[in-house]
Amino acid sequence: MAEKKHSERIKEEDAINALSSESPEISTNDELESKPIPTMIDDLDIQDIPGIGPTTAKKLRDAGILTVMDLAVASAEELSVEINSSKESAAAFIIAAQQLLRDSNLLDKEFVTADIALEKRKSMLRCTTGSKALDRLLLGGVETQAVTEFYGEFGSGKSQICHTLCVMASQPVSEGGYGSGSIYIDTEGTFRPERIDQIAVSRGLDPASVLKSIAVCKVYNSSHLELIVKDLGKYINDFKARLVIIDSIISLHRAEFAGRGTLADRQQRLNGMLHKIIRLAEIYNITVVITNQVQSSPDTFFGDPTKAAGGNVLGHASTYRIYLRKSGENRTAKMIDSPYHPYSDTKFTVTERGVDDLEEETSSKRGK
Ligand SMILES: Nc1ncnc2c1ncn2[C@@H]1O[C@H](COP(=O)(O)OP(=O)(O)O)[C@@H](O)[C@H]1O
Ligand SMILES: [Mg+2]
Repeated sequence: MAEKKHSERIKEEDAINALSSESPEISTNDELESKPIPTMIDDLDIQDIPGIGPTTAKKLRDAGILTVMDLAVASAEELSVEINSSKESAAAFIIAAQQLLRDSNLLDKEFVTADIALEKRKSMLRCTTGSKALDRLLLGGVETQAVTEFYGEFGSGKSQICHTLCVMASQPVSEGGYGSGSIYIDTEGTFRPERIDQIAVSRGLDPASVLKSIAVCKVYNSSHLELIVKDLGKYINDFKARLVIIDSIISLHRAEFAGRGTLADRQQRLNGMLHKIIRLAEIYNITVVITNQVQSSPDTFFGDPTKAAGGNVLGHASTYRIYLRKSGENRTAKMIDSPYHPYSDTKFTVTERGVDDLEEETSSKRGK
């Protein structure tokens, strides 16, 4: 019975992916939106995992691990502490959960040939940023199965991009969105629902439904943030979110661990959190957008003496890194690090519509 449901969902996933990744213009939009988000696999029970009986299942539930997916993305180190077991048996549970997902065709096999990897990439979706120029830089928008990092100085437009993305994600696939909810994790207290309202209204969208599609969580300290990230899988399901924003990923850790001589500890905790985020992005087929601050790098003799904060830990976690700079009224975005985007930069601006194109871009579009 459960098996049948799975295969049905997988078929739906294929259908949705085929529609959305290839030609968004052939949208049968209403159909798309009425379908469940394909990666929600609540059909599997944690006790379906070989080797997990009622006692272990209870321990896992007590530790907040409610689904096979939660277990598959857990870290052995943390889990062993939470369920009071050896690290080896915690790791064995995690591997068994991943194996069950693989057997149910819900997770990639350990090794796949490149043609199958390409197929998987086709299930990747893209959400528009609200600016054609920024979308071009990103080769079509922010992607699922990846972590996209925007970093830059205060006022460079990071939070504006996040606000606009949430509005766009709520829009149907045919309009460049995900037709989904989003999650906004706000660590700097800069999320403004009024701004969401303004962006929606000036784009001619229904502000009430846009506001309803965004789940906001204000986070006060680094442990709180780690806790939210730990339970993120559940929230992604609850809010049917295809976009998760963390604005910013580093501010709390940076402030709390400043000058304490505990940089290694901070980096280790950031690392744990980021790995979880990457696994979530891949397994749930969601987009994760994180923002990051800059720090001055006095050893730079040429060029811009600022670089992204967080060191290698963050650098390795982000699939794509985009550096934002203010230049007068406008902003410049530069693709810094990407496995396949060409090196390039572009200009955009911030208006009542949120992230927007410069006048020339807008008028040349109109002229077309
Ligand atoms: N309603 C608005 N209309 C036009 N520009 C705005 C509006 N709200 C914010 N901005 C612009 O966005 C800037 C703040 O950008 P923000 O994304 O919050 O910076 P940060 O990179 O620090 O997150 C402001 O300085 C302003 O230039
Ligand atoms: Mg900000």
